[in-house]
Amino acid sequence: MTQPAFTPALGCFGAGWLYDAVVALTGERGWRRAACRELAAEPGDVVVDVGCGSGSQSLMVYALQPQARIVGVDPDVRMLALARRKAEKVSAPVEFRSGMGDALAAVLPDVRADKVISSLVLHQCPLPMKRAILASMHEVLKPGGRLVIADFGRQRSWLMRAAFLIVQMADGFADTQPNADGVLPGLMRQAGFGNVREAQVIPTLVGAVTVYVAEKV
Ligand SMILES: C[S@@+](CC[C@H](N)C(=O)[O-])C[C@H]1O[C@@H](n2cnc3c(N)ncnc32)[C@H](O)[C@@H]1O
Repeated sequence: MTQPAFTPALGCFGAGWLYDAVVALTGERGWRRAACRELAAEPGDVVVDVGCGSGSQSLMVYALQPQARIVGVDPDVRMLALARRKAEKVSAPVEFRSGMGDALAAVLPDVRADKVISSLVLHQCPLPMKRAILASMHEVLKPGGRLVIADFGRQRSWLMRAAFLIVQMADGFADTQPNADGVLPGLMRQAGFGNVREAQVIPTLVGAVTVYVAEKV
């Protein structure tokens, strides 16, 4: 069976092992914490991290709420190996599974999520895949469940548009430009989400990261 196509964590710059060092340049603690605050994981919650990569966001969710069950999903087995090593190091019982974000029901047949989080994934995906991932997130969530997305969104100033060119050169203009044009809230509504809002916009060295929040109404 052929592996479905996806853009790797560092886009055309490849090498997953470099990823954590590169993403640290975005001042990741700030926007990751903001995303966790909006997620507000509670004891007993089932949280799915879509496109979990090397597991940094999943592990922060766990650090802030160790009584939640956290499952990370990513198609890149090298990133999952990194994530598992990082989880082992801090004895975090986070599960990591191999799979695409548009096939969550198949990857997680045993999981109905209270909350879904996803960071820096959708900007790397073609428009039909952005739509399919959001539909799949909607499917895996329980009614009333919450979606939190931290990703490059509308780039509102010339400075942020210029900074975001670095990401666009790595991940390609076709997939990243719709994010910079502010397409995500509309796509979330089309996927069936309600109460869609931009909770925070955080400038970074490589463009502004927006934390979006939505609910399965
Ligand atoms: C830039 S990395 C972000 C990783 C992690 N979420 C973080 O915040 O550090 C993007 C990740 O999305 C994954 N990815 C790309 N296309 C995907 C898809 N269609 N479904 C799920 N994950 C995908 C990649 O394998 C990669 O690990």
